Amino acid sequence: MKTVGIIGTGHIGSLLAKKLIETAIVGPQELFAANRTPEKLNKLAKDLGITPCKDNIGVAKASDIIFVCVRPAEAKAVIAEIKPALSPQKLIISTVSDVKLADLKAWSGIDCVRIIPSVTSEYDRGVMVISYPDGIGDAVKESVMRLFEKVRLRYVTAEENISALSDLTSSSPAIIAAVIQEFAKAAAEKSNGGIPLCDAEELIRETLLGTAVLHDKLSQRSAVQSGKKADAKSPVKSVINSPAEFPVDSPFDILIESVATKGGITAEGVVAVREKAPELYDRVLTNMQNKHKKVGQSLKN
Ligand SMILES: NC(=O)c1ccc[n+]([C@@H]2O[C@H](COP(=O)([O-])OP(=O)(O)OC[C@H]3O[C@@H](n4cnc5c(N)ncnc54)[C@H](OP(=O)(O)O)[C@@H]3O)[C@@H](O)[C@H]2O)c1
Repeated sequence: MKTVGIIGTGHIGSLLAKKLIETAIVGPQELFAANRTPEKLNKLAKDLGITPCKDNIGVAKASDIIFVCVRPAEAKAVIAEIKPALSPQKLIISTVSDVKLADLKAWSGIDCVRIIPSVTSEYDRGVMVISYPDGIGDAVKESVMRLFEKVRLRYVTAEENISALSDLTSSSPAIIAAVIQEFAKAAAEKSNGGIPLCDAEELIRETLLGTAVLHDKLSQRSAVQSGKKADAKSPVKSVINSPAEFPVDSPFDILIESVATKGGITAEGVVAVREKAPELYDRVLTNMQNKHKKVGQSLKN
């Protein structure tokens, strides 16, 4: 088995370490990690039984595959630091937002792959977006896929899609939470004190979980009924671990139809969403895309 290293044991680095060990894809003796400050690292190493390294180059020396999980502003210096320990047999997998494959390759001199994980994978749900550089070999792709074989939905895409997909799959838990919280706030306000905000949040939270389960079931059924056909027009290739390919009929439409009967009360709510939400989501995505650009720009300066 290849040895694996993690540089930066913050939210994402720790999550990756935990999942690799929990799923037994990597054994504790094959996993090495380093972090700028030792506290988080030492706790993680103790919890998982992995080897803490005193510096980043120690991780790079010990590992065939090196995850770089630091913030964008720190990535270049980290790669410069480990460069003496790199060789063409090694692979860097970067979770760093807005640092391009071309820059990673230029800084490191070796093959690099970008991934966008989601915090939801802590509970075995969610998406892992993966982007390979042009011309990378099948053996590298296979070893990357092997590391993430327990992730439910692995989505391989061209690098130009990665920031949009990051907004859709990785940032979205926070966006969805904010949207749902606003819904709860509005309901509490409209009740004139009858429903306390904390109750409204708890009630909508439970409804959200129920909706996700219902949607999942509808999605599986719809995929089976449609003969498990994926969208042939999709510009990106999907690699999917769930029992079915993407359904042709949107399970969202089916779900909405089953709750919002024509001419009924819920349908009025759906009309308001259709009217107002496009503007809101355009703004949400524009704000995030502008921030991607700013971060990308700041890395060039
Ligand atoms: N959070 C998400 O949901 C998410 C999703 C997709 C992609 N990402 C990307 O993944 C990267 C990591 O995100 P995160 O949320 O895990 O950030 P984070 O919690 O701030 O973790 C970053 C870690 O890197 C460590 N670090 C900083 N400089 C270092 C250095 N020179 N050498 C070794 N370790 C160093 C930090 O150490 P200290 O303990 O000293 O701070 C910290 O533990 C970011 O680029 C982010 O954009 C995050």
